Amino acid sequence: MKITAIRGFKDILPKETLQWQKIEESAKNTFSRFAFKEIKLPIIEKTSLFKRSIGETTDIVEKEMYTFLDRKEESLTLRPEGTAPCVRAYIENNLNTEYPVTKLYYFGPMFRYERPQKGRYRQFYQIGAEVFGSASARTDAETLLMAQEFLNEAGIKNTVLNINSLGCKNCRPTYRETLLKFLKTKTDELCENCVRRIDDNPLRALDCKASTCIEATEDAPSILESLCADCDTHFEEVKKTLKTLDVDYEINHRMVRGLDYYNRTTFEVVSDKLGAQNTVLAGGRYDSLVKDLGGMDTPCFGFAAGMERLALLLDNDNQERDLTVIIPICEEAQEKASIIAKKIRELGKKTHVEYDGKNLKKKLTRANKLLARNAVIIGEDEIEKNIFLLRDMEKGTQETYTEKELLKVI
Ligand code: HAM
Repeated sequence: MKITAIRGFKDILPKETLQWQKIEESAKNTFSRFAFKEIKLPIIEKTSLFKRSIGETTDIVEKEMYTFLDRKEESLTLRPEGTAPCVRAYIENNLNTEYPVTKLYYFGPMFRYERPQKGRYRQFYQIGAEVFGSASARTDAETLLMAQEFLNEAGIKNTVLNINSLGCKNCRPTYRETLLKFLKTKTDELCENCVRRIDDNPLRALDCKASTCIEATEDAPSILESLCADCDTHFEEVKKTLKTLDVDYEINHRMVRGLDYYNRTTFEVVSDKLGAQNTVLAGGRYDSLVKDLGGMDTPCFGFAAGMERLALLLDNDNQERDLTVIIPICEEAQEKASIIAKKIRELGKKTHVEYDGKNLKKKLTRANKLLARNAVIIGEDEIEKNIFLLRDMEKGTQETYTEKELLKVI
């Protein structure tokens, strides 16, 4: 029996990794321009970290975590997201004393036991960015500008930024009551899960993907109408700054996000090319999480993007032909092939030698599949005359060169 990968866990194959590298490169370039620094975090954390941050009544904590007991019976969890680990690391390493405003980014795999489908996996990769220590609405807008610049640089087009405000601990309870009253009139239409947690966490119903819940909450009261004066001013400033910075947005008052730590600004960048899993990048403000996890009062803002979804939005057809393939067609040519390959690589050019087999036609077919730009053919004649036959793989033309000329041409 063949051993296969686990359901929802997928290999990222060489034909995809080129795009992944491009996306990561764009993120690194953009984030460093905004003075972010990289942090590398563990993949496993104590289960309590996620329970306390993401929220006990969220889908992630209720049914999606990979949780297990280690050999000492301690409950550990494969991280379902990166914000909580980043906050834990920020507190534990006293990063606030090193940099008053700490801007961090991270890459890596996350794990959620969800139903796999296109753009939704059980192991998926995120690129995340977090700002610690700024309460300014301008930080929200500038970080959204950064997200937009990152997507542009990566070549991801036609996305829409949706924004909302979830208020704060002063005004959210009022909205919670208003929403709860509304939802109680709809309990027949809501899914079992939403009915069960209606009293503990009514906002979850607005994030539920069940079609009945989406329909039932269509006319739900808007959270934006319950904002207190401070939250309202904050949201107005975010919108104003986004306009000043030329970042287009739409308001979506139903967007509550799937994690409980958010307050004030939340946002999602969506694409209509992804089907049901249409959010490529998302996040928001979380001003009380650092304190809730035992740190100082530290306002924060951040986001994460899903690599698989970003990669789905990039087409992989226009791969560059930038390879030179050396084709020795007799035994004696093998050594000459290795030496010239070494010299071409020293010029910083990608080079591969087709050592196996003797059939020139087959070797050229393979070179073409590898997307070779050039093939350097070395046979008995070339050895005797101390020359190289260079074939332009796109045009199909061939010419002979001395070694010096060949290196110059390549
Ligand atoms: P999230 O919305 O749960 O937020 O995930 C962020 C992004 O990760 C999603 O928009 C999506 O692109 C990707 N993603 C999530 N689940 C999956 C999955 N099962 N398969 C493939 N891609 C997925 C967070 O994780 C927050 N930590 C974001 C944040 C950072 N908020 C503040 N700072």
